[in-house]
Amino acid sequence: MKRYHVTTFGCQMNEHDSERMKGMLESLGYGEAGAAEDADVILFNTCSIREKADSRFLAHLGHAKRLKREDPERIVGVGGCWAQSVKDEVFARFPFVDVAFGPGQVHKLAEFLTSDSLTAQGFFEFEGFTGHLPDKRAREFQAWVQISVGCNCRCSYCIVPSTRGREVSRPAGELVAEVARLAGEGVREVTLLGQNVNSYGRDLRGGRDGATSFAELLTQLDAIEGIERIRYTSPHPKDMREDVILAHAQLPSVCEHIHLPLQSGSSRILKAMRRTYTRERYMDRVALIREHVPDAAITTDIIVGFPGETEDDFAQTLEVCEQVGYDGAFTFIFSPRRGTEAGGFTEGLVAHEEKVERMQRLVELVQRRATERAQRFVGRELEVLVEGASRTDPSRLRGRSRHNKAVNFSGLAAPGELVPVRITGATSQTLTGELSLLAAASSAG
Ligand code: SAH
Ligand code: SF4
Ligand code: F3S
Repeated sequence: MKRYHVTTFGCQMNEHDSERMKGMLESLGYGEAGAAEDADVILFNTCSIREKADSRFLAHLGHAKRLKREDPERIVGVGGCWAQSVKDEVFARFPFVDVAFGPGQVHKLAEFLTSDSLTAQGFFEFEGFTGHLPDKRAREFQAWVQISVGCNCRCSYCIVPSTRGREVSRPAGELVAEVARLAGEGVREVTLLGQNVNSYGRDLRGGRDGATSFAELLTQLDAIEGIERIRYTSPHPKDMREDVILAHAQLPSVCEHIHLPLQSGSSRILKAMRRTYTRERYMDRVALIREHVPDAAITTDIIVGFPGETEDDFAQTLEVCEQVGYDGAFTFIFSPRRGTEAGGFTEGLVAHEEKVERMQRLVELVQRRATERAQRFVGRELEVLVEGASRTDPSRLRGRSRHNKAVNFSGLAAPGELVPVRITGATSQTLTGELSLLAAASSAG
């Protein structure tokens, strides 16, 4: 049997595309190899969101080059956003690469592998959904569902619109059928994926599914028997309508967690980023969430050191973080990307040491607020979806609450089970606790 190995970089979208690549390869009769050394087909699913993502991947590609030299029969393939952003250049720069393809061309990999062609080929049109390919899920009870591809926003720092193309939504009927099938296979939690999930369906308007908005899609998916949890990522603050927030309050399976990327707390910087909302409008959305879903966890993405960011702009980001009290935040140092508007900015560049120093202050504040926020869970009983053994202590279990908090706890339960856990401790990142049944039994005895 021929074997493949896939290394994945980047976001959940890429993780999911890799599941589809694996499913497709297995349907062609390939088996998964534990390491690239043992594979006939070595694949990389790449990311280009920040410079670090590029350099990490290029280090891996050097390893593949050595393996190809040892055995020239091996096939080396490069897919994903980095491949899309350099397109055919990849063959000039890395002559040992056999096949390269963008995120919209994953299906062409099968065509390439089954053809007799020995020449290197690149596939870079925006045309397909990986959602149409078979998948090989990492976990039986959790699944990603791609609801749209591409992005119509023009955030000035971001490479994604050029690597994933214009936004295209999948018809609601198709998504409902996919989730119903997943439920039938034992999936209890789905995460809906898109670059801007809450603009879902706008491109379908006028079509047969024209009436379906993101909130309506949530309603249809919530009705599917067996699906206990629905998550989604990422929404855009500009499209965060009240109906979506109400879905969190009213639909039992929609989780009490909203990831609402802020990027900056300064309206001036938001404008330069072309985010199309102000600090006030963002805080309005937060107020609406607090009003309808007071217990919801809110998390965010923040960029530090965008060109032109002054100490005053940065202070405003800190202020917003203090006011919102995020349950968690992903923080990034601005990284100029090829082909983007901000990648070409030459004025107001923030010195590296300044960026690092701001980042430290931001992380400190975010962690302090997250720790404070997490204390609300102590003493409560939370529903946890069991994922397996704890990473730090194999005698304990690990899972996630509906708020998307990692929970380490004692007790016996199988992966995929939803169990009640009594929370006894909380840090910025994790909760600790014990299975409630066990707690009840031991206190009774
Ligand atoms: N579509 C999603 C995710 C985009 S990428 C969204 O809009 O939220 C995830 C995060 O990476 C972004 O939210 C942003 O915070 C960060 N990011 C994107 N481009 C970046 C860049 N050039 N430099 C630093 N961080 C960046
Ligand atoms: Fe990038 Fe902005 Fe689109 Fe997100 S919304 S993918 S940050 S362009
Ligand atoms: Fe994701 Fe990276 Fe592409 S974050 S969309 S894989 S550039």
